[in-house]
Amino acid sequence: MKKGVIRPGHVQIRVLDMDEAVAHYRDLIGLIETDRDDQGRVYLKGWTEVDKFSVVLREADSAGMDFLGFKVLSEAVLESLRGELAAFGCEIEDIPAGELIDCGRRVRFVAPTGHSFELYATKTQTGRYGVGNHNPEAWPRDLKGMKAQRFDHCLLYGPNLDKTFDLFRDVLGFDLCEQVMTPDGKRVAQFLTVGMKAHDIAFIDHPEPGRFHHASFFLETWEDVLKAGGDYFYPDHEPITWDADSAQRAFPHRLDLITGNSV
Ligand SMILES: [Fe+2]
Repeated sequence: MKKGVIRPGHVQIRVLDMDEAVAHYRDLIGLIETDRDDQGRVYLKGWTEVDKFSVVLREADSAGMDFLGFKVLSEAVLESLRGELAAFGCEIEDIPAGELIDCGRRVRFVAPTGHSFELYATKTQTGRYGVGNHNPEAWPRDLKGMKAQRFDHCLLYGPNLDKTFDLFRDVLGFDLCEQVMTPDGKRVAQFLTVGMKAHDIAFIDHPEPGRFHHASFFLETWEDVLKAGGDYFYPDHEPITWDADSAQRAFPHRLDLITGNSV
């Protein structure tokens, strides 16, 4: 968070059938539907999240990710990072406040992997669903399905991992927590964190730009999903390195909820 980026704050996902997608995210994963807009988009959140939404579903002819947004500390930080992104060479698109309901202005840019990301500082805080901040109950009584607590991270496929790492490290303040290396020294997977999580964003080397593998949500129980929860990280830790021929071991110990209609 040394550059003022707090966390992955929202992801807009293209889905093929909105009714089926809402049933999946709301009734199976257990997210809370918080709003719908005049474009037909549906807004959802995990019940422990204080901001109004973290997932936006948009019906489209092809599945995938429209963009992943990171929340930053303040409007001043947002403006500063906008300048740094431009100086890095990113093309910037300014999205006005209100384009997403109850979200402030967003600064959108495309990473060298071909994915659209955005930064924002302001979003209406509706508080934890069903419990509030004053003498809160431990949990809401009407949670559904897997009762996912919060949006956690995305795994994306695309080219130019080195340049993308430069962008996330130098401009946005992410650390490299884990990587997969080929025998000739090429990094083919990188797991980046902006805090102590094992990763807030992960990239896998792939020739086709802009591919979306999955968005993940945090679960608290079932013995922490059979001890599948990832490692922890401080900025003074060395990154964990996996050899490419052993990389399959890097992934089964993480159990992600693969989202419906993802590609
Ligand atoms: Fe994941």
